[in-house]
Amino acid sequence: MWPQRTAKSSLKRIATSPRLGPFGPALLRAVQYALSLHHREVVSYDQPERASAIERVREILADWPAQVMSADEAYMIRGAVLSTAKVEGDLAEVGVFRGTSAKVICEAKGDRALHLFDTFEGLPPTGHFDSGFQAGQYACSLESVRDYLKDFANVQFYKGYFPMTGEPVKSRGFAFVHLDVDLFESTMAALEFFYPRMNPGAILVSHDYVEFAGVRRAFDEFFEHKSEPVIELSGNQCLVVKVTPRLADL
Ligand SMILES: C[S@@+](CC[C@H](N)C(=O)[O-])C[C@H]1O[C@@H](n2cnc3c(N)ncnc32)[C@H](O)[C@@H]1O
Repeated sequence: MWPQRTAKSSLKRIATSPRLGPFGPALLRAVQYALSLHHREVVSYDQPERASAIERVREILADWPAQVMSADEAYMIRGAVLSTAKVEGDLAEVGVFRGTSAKVICEAKGDRALHLFDTFEGLPPTGHFDSGFQAGQYACSLESVRDYLKDFANVQFYKGYFPMTGEPVKSRGFAFVHLDVDLFESTMAALEFFYPRMNPGAILVSHDYVEFAGVRRAFDEFFEHKSEPVIELSGNQCLVVKVTPRLADL
């Protein structure tokens, strides 16, 4: 972690050096252009509030090496959680691993209840639509994640295979759900469980919609005949805003 931090602060010093004077913005534009040739766009977090939020998100990501989630994606989760403050209901995540995205959710949730579901023994067996994964990948003990999130109130953990572990929250309503389960069966099971329990205005964000065929297929199949559009985001996520009432309210 030390060399990474050093490289980051050196780059920052160069980019903001007064010695570059008017060449600073030109250099930035040249770097952006070079990146765009590789279909990589630079997002601006220039405004002070956005700058401090993305900085905080980066700090959380730096807690663990080799993150599967980018700062942009974590920022999207944070924004979605904040924007559901006025929606009735709890928050949930399926696919917790070491607790990175859960920590982003915790910092934005206020005092609302957050339910965290994972086997805490890694991915379950993969299916026909999933390739490149192994059962047991992303194993992390419940105790270590509980310790990592110990400063946040109103967080419940459910260890085991979801949806079997959903029983205790069956009668709850939800304002925000984050899915990060990589696989077709797990994604479909989570959609079947949470969609009818989400209140109008609730937001569902999923990682891996762009890059993993199983996740994309589950979303596209599940929402094919539903009112809600599935919005593909600029990173590897998709987002859905619930527009229809919760099943229990019909
Ligand atoms: C890529 S990791 C999640 C990464 C995490 N969101 C983060 O920020 O680091 C995927 C996780 O999904 C969990 N998972 C996948 N399918 C599951 C299921 N049906 N029930 C419980 N956990 C599941 C795995 O155990 C694994 O921890």
